[in-house]
Amino acid sequence: MINLSTKYMGLDLRNPLIVASCSLVKTLDGVKTCADAGAGAVVLKSLFEEQMEVEVKDIEKYLLPYWHPEAFDYVRQMGMELGPKEYLTLVEKAKKTVSVPVIASLNCITPKWWVEYARQIKNAGADGIELNISIMPSDINRTGKDIENVYFKILEEVKANIDIPIAVKIGPYFTSMAHMANELSNRGTEALVLFNRFYQPNIDIEKLELAPGYNFSSPEEIGLSLRWVALLAGRVSCDLAASTGVHNCEGVIKQLLAGANAVQLCSTLYLNGIKQIGVILKELETWMQKHGFESVDEIRGKLSQTESDRPELYERIQYIKALVGIE
Ligand SMILES: Cc1cc2nc3c(=O)[nH]c(=O)nc-3n(C[C@H](O)[C@H](O)[C@H](O)COP(=O)(O)O)c2cc1C
Repeated sequence: MINLSTKYMGLDLRNPLIVASCSLVKTLDGVKTCADAGAGAVVLKSLFEEQMEVEVKDIEKYLLPYWHPEAFDYVRQMGMELGPKEYLTLVEKAKKTVSVPVIASLNCITPKWWVEYARQIKNAGADGIELNISIMPSDINRTGKDIENVYFKILEEVKANIDIPIAVKIGPYFTSMAHMANELSNRGTEALVLFNRFYQPNIDIEKLELAPGYNFSSPEEIGLSLRWVALLAGRVSCDLAASTGVHNCEGVIKQLLAGANAVQLCSTLYLNGIKQIGVILKELETWMQKHGFESVDEIRGKLSQTESDRPELYERIQYIKALVGIE
């Protein structure tokens, strides 16, 4: 009997496949479809900080002619307390409808909204919160340290006020990734999601204007998260979820071997349909049978850097002939 269950950020998952935060899981129907297809958990579409701003501005506009300016702080507070209601309703309904863990996702670029709102999300029944922290480092006066401190502050404030499991989803662009991951882990995040893959702009050279980029990943992109999952597994105390470039069962197995507690799927579900979850689960069982594994726990981390007999390969960053066979 094959046991696919796994523990991730303190939650019991029936299998390690999580639907990543994206538009496939921004409605109740979407959440239900993913759970019915076999997902181990879902991360809801992120609520964006800009949405909070808009909602508060709407309230201000409406009240402006009638209110004394001093009342604005109160109004702001009120906007925050109400929060985008639809999101809380989605959390509540999703929890009532599906039996798998429902993780809410907040896109944070400053710490200003999230403590109060995260509390409301907890009260709506979310099993956990993924903080999708992404700060564009385009300000030439802002140092790397300044930016890292924003990550820490957001996490510390949320952790100090909310007692459901928290994951932090980050991008790969840190000078010292291992140190950053360890600092986030030391500040109490239950999990790190490695990595977010950011929206990529494009340019239309005929119209001479900006154009939307192609925003799905390809299976070849798995290498970056694979390397970092393998390097960090067993070194940081929090759990690890792999994200970016996992399109099929092979990718899932690689990430588990590297040490991931769970694997997030996004592009593949857009490209191959939600049924891809079932396909991967079936193939995973077949592979485990073939290799004599009875549980996901037996696979996890077998080829992480600390377990591997060639640990230096994960740190190799230059191409040399002996490795790639190309002159
Ligand atoms: C259409 C689309 C919408 C997304 N929306 C979000 C989002 O709201 N929050 C978030 O954290 N990531 C979002 N992502 C990023 C995915 O969750 C995922 O991290 C990324 O696509 C890399 O995984 P993949 O290679 O499996 O696609 C989105 C991705 C896509 C393609």
